[in-house]
Amino acid sequence: MAELTSLLKEGRIFYPPQEGKDQAYISSRYKYKQIYQYSLDDPDEFWAERAKELITWFKYWDRTCYWDFYKPEIKFFEGGKLNACFNCVDRHLDNPAIKNKAAIIWQGEPDRDTKVYTYHMLHSEICKFAKILKNLGVEKGDRVTIYLPTMPEAVAAMLACARIGAIHSVVFGGFSSEALKVRILDAQAKVVITCDGTYRGGRRITLLDRAEEAIRDCDCVEHCIVLNRFGDPIELKDNRCILYDDLKKDLSVAEYCEYEVMDAEDPLFILYTSGTTGKPKGVYHTTGGYLVYAAHTTQWVFDLKPDDIYWCTADIGWITGHSYVVYGPLALGATVFMYEGVPTYPNPGRWWELVDRYGITILYTAPTAIRVLMREGDQWPKKYNLSSLRILGTVGEPINPEAWVWFYVNVGRKRCPVVDTWWQTETGGHMIAPIPFAVPQKPGSATYPLPGVEPVILRADGTEADINEGGHLCIKRAWPGMARGVWGDEKRFKEVYFSRFPGYYYTGDGARKDEDGYFWIMGRLDDVINVSGHRLGTMELESAFVEHPAVAEAAVVGFPHDIKGEGIFAYIVLKEGFDPTSELKKELVSHIRKVIGPIATPDFILFAPGLPKTRSGKIMRRILRKIAAQQFEDLGDTSTLAEPEVVEKLVDLRKNLK
Ligand code: PRX
Repeated sequence: MAELTSLLKEGRIFYPPQEGKDQAYISSRYKYKQIYQYSLDDPDEFWAERAKELITWFKYWDRTCYWDFYKPEIKFFEGGKLNACFNCVDRHLDNPAIKNKAAIIWQGEPDRDTKVYTYHMLHSEICKFAKILKNLGVEKGDRVTIYLPTMPEAVAAMLACARIGAIHSVVFGGFSSEALKVRILDAQAKVVITCDGTYRGGRRITLLDRAEEAIRDCDCVEHCIVLNRFGDPIELKDNRCILYDDLKKDLSVAEYCEYEVMDAEDPLFILYTSGTTGKPKGVYHTTGGYLVYAAHTTQWVFDLKPDDIYWCTADIGWITGHSYVVYGPLALGATVFMYEGVPTYPNPGRWWELVDRYGITILYTAPTAIRVLMREGDQWPKKYNLSSLRILGTVGEPINPEAWVWFYVNVGRKRCPVVDTWWQTETGGHMIAPIPFAVPQKPGSATYPLPGVEPVILRADGTEADINEGGHLCIKRAWPGMARGVWGDEKRFKEVYFSRFPGYYYTGDGARKDEDGYFWIMGRLDDVINVSGHRLGTMELESAFVEHPAVAEAAVVGFPHDIKGEGIFAYIVLKEGFDPTSELKKELVSHIRKVIGPIATPDFILFAPGLPKTRSGKIMRRILRKIAAQQFEDLGDTSTLAEPEVVEKLVDLRKNLK
């Protein structure tokens, strides 16, 4: 597997600080190893203990763990009864130390805009929201699509769904109306929740227009609830749209809404993620296992205590936002900080200023953001008092050691462990990550598997790889937080995750394990690009390109990008009669931004005379990736190609591309 040769040769090791160790849940590698072994030896006991300790159940389960990766079928806490919203909010109201403390502190991008919801206040907001949904006819099992920016009411909307047993499907606010439409239709959502817009980089971004455009073709949508972010009057065009404030007016201040008693295996939410085919997959998670897993990983990986002020910078439209802005920290009764804006506006010190101002203790973010801020210079974090921080975390893509060390030195001031957490939308929560005060960290490695997680590295033939040999990262046994299926397409669930290596969960990532048992993730092996921690399927991008009347054929690959981790490189073959002009290039860029969204903006478009294909017609992406990355020397064997000369032409074109 030549492509998997790891370029990382990182020898540094950082030991957990002494300060904080005594209060940590797990404070030594020895304890971690003991717990890890116990979790593998007796998973039933291990998960039952965690589930009872972290979650309030209305009824305990009949069977703790069951899985069969061949079928596949996965069940945890079967027969158990609970409600996720009850666990995140209601139960805390009986605890006087939590009832009136902040559940959510929200800072809008403009400094004047702030909001605080105590647990008690969040509870009343959720009850009203849940009542509104019920009054609109939403019932247990119905799907609700949430298309909102980072605002506390988005959390209330998610938990209101959970309260009444509706399945939420949050769609990232940066997605286009087309992407939103596809997701609404796939889930057959009855209600859509959106708002007028949000602030980003000093500008107002509107969401309502896109939502109204999306629902135009969605007959399944009966109502669209519109929240008000800007505070100005809102003009509604679609007659299914109703203002949230109007709906709320009819309810009493102390409105209470009963929660549904849910089965552990009832679906909690659907979340769309990119796959290797054109159509995004609606991965769904169920109530009991997911909630236990979110709370369990939040507690151990962030060593989260009730007095922490915890900030995860992810948007709620991603799984990170689901597990580590909403379900995990709220189930544990922590204070969650949310910020609406971008890290570099009005200046690159914004995040550090917020850490200082709000006394953030745990900061969880993405390598791409760290690289952006690192480029702006050390002077920005230096200006602020960051001594409240005690743990730093990263997620979404491999972190290069340089960025890791910058974060550790300049933000954590060499006092804070950095937890590099490897996981996926499908895993529901962290899988490989250091327990901060227990496991020494090597920059660029996600370190050890968490208790209950058994990763293996397989060669293409299914045998286990040797130490330091790159291979396919797979998981040998089930864990409570794993996805239970692809919404409306169970066949696809089996095909994508359980067919490549029967009996294993297939992650799609390459990895190696070093001589100390540390895991090094090497990125995705399938046709998925990871742009700034956002997963984009190359097929999705390609189908969007060929929708344009000028495009005959498209091949999209990722290439190493200093800031984004991976950038988007598109090879475009034009139809007869179209000229490869710079205007057309611009038009294609705006086409992609419209069809998928700004996150999918191509970095390079190369007008190609043809694409390198095997004789059976399969595009040789390996070659295209190398050309995009300007690695011209080592293009490998091109003799099996249908038209080998096309490669030379592409190399010349790439050399001249700006
Ligand atoms: O390739 C891995 C990468 O992100 C993929 C999962 O993307 P998504 O489902 O969008 O979830 C992102 C948030 C969990 C993985 O297959 N990835 C995620 N975290 C890391 C990572 N790669 C390396 N190191 C990580 N810490």
